[in-house]
Amino acid sequence: MSHSLSREPLSGADWFAVEYDPATDEVVMLDQRLLPAEVKYHRYRTPDEVAGAIRDMVVRGAPAIGIAAGYGLALLSRHEDSDAKMFLVANGTAGRILNETRPTAVNLGWAIARMSRKAGKVAELPPHDRFEGMLAEAEAIHREDVEACRRMGELGAADVPEGAMILTHCNAGALATGGYGTALGVVRAAHAQGKGVRVLADETRPYLQGARLTAWELHQDGIPVEVITDNMSGHFFQKGEIQFVVVGSDRIAANSDVANKIGTYSVAVLANHHEVPFTVAAPWSTVDLRVSSGADIPIEERSRSEVAHIGNRTLVEDGIPCRHPAFDITPAKLVDAIYTERGVVHPKIGERPDVLRG
Ligand code: MRU
Repeated sequence: MSHSLSREPLSGADWFAVEYDPATDEVVMLDQRLLPAEVKYHRYRTPDEVAGAIRDMVVRGAPAIGIAAGYGLALLSRHEDSDAKMFLVANGTAGRILNETRPTAVNLGWAIARMSRKAGKVAELPPHDRFEGMLAEAEAIHREDVEACRRMGELGAADVPEGAMILTHCNAGALATGGYGTALGVVRAAHAQGKGVRVLADETRPYLQGARLTAWELHQDGIPVEVITDNMSGHFFQKGEIQFVVVGSDRIAANSDVANKIGTYSVAVLANHHEVPFTVAAPWSTVDLRVSSGADIPIEERSRSEVAHIGNRTLVEDGIPCRHPAFDITPAKLVDAIYTERGVVHPKIGERPDVLRG
């Protein structure tokens, strides 16, 4: 389980999705494709390698891929000793490659834009100072994400009933963020407050983030969790066993529509039918006020093979097409609350995230 990082992880736990190792100038990532069978960390030295790791889902989850991209651009400046103009060109090219890896999660573009602004400020400095500035910015993105998770966790936990069974979908935990988690940050905070919560984790076909990742990380922290297949949640709503739903998000539109892992919309419909609060926890970097509604959020299409196979096993005969949208849109009218580090938005009663605009 050892990550052999040369310093304490910024994640605040002894395991993490993504960190920077200043001793070797490498980005270190836990290979989430292998969990829970194997806990293995990989090391990356170039922005192209980091882009490959994001594309291949070594690291996933909207905030975590933004942090990875930030560190990727810090790596670029570590190895780039050209003049200011060439540095900015190289930074722009690497940023575009990173940004194309996953289209739905806006945290990626947000982090790249922030690193580009920093690049503009440090471009004229000597290469080493330039690198220090870029690394400090990437670390700030990482630290702020962990702080944001803790803050939204506190805000969300206040709404969680004592002894609640909490349903979550996909993985919006420490593995999907700088540490602590968004939706699982709410769970962790409620657990820390002694509310005696339990978690029902949707397995989250086809990539199984719920079964493989959410269950693993809650188990690490001793938080009670049970895994269900995605088609079981209706049954548990009907039996009155679920008191609260919290999920993460990849992008929140100006009208409070929420993009999240495919299957989230179905959960929201069920929660609303059964009058169970359906809530979302996400950092402000997930809010995209440039996008007026969910209809304008690009939905990533992933490969047929992720639907047609589980591991080496073929589920769908070769030649039969499959569909694989990786995300869906939950309309604002189904969302009771969005917890951010800036405060809470209540979309169902018509609130929009711009009420929290700084
Ligand atoms: O395809 P993934 O695993 O990157 O999708 C992740 C999700 O949909 C998460 O719920 C979302 O990114 C929020 S993570 C805090």
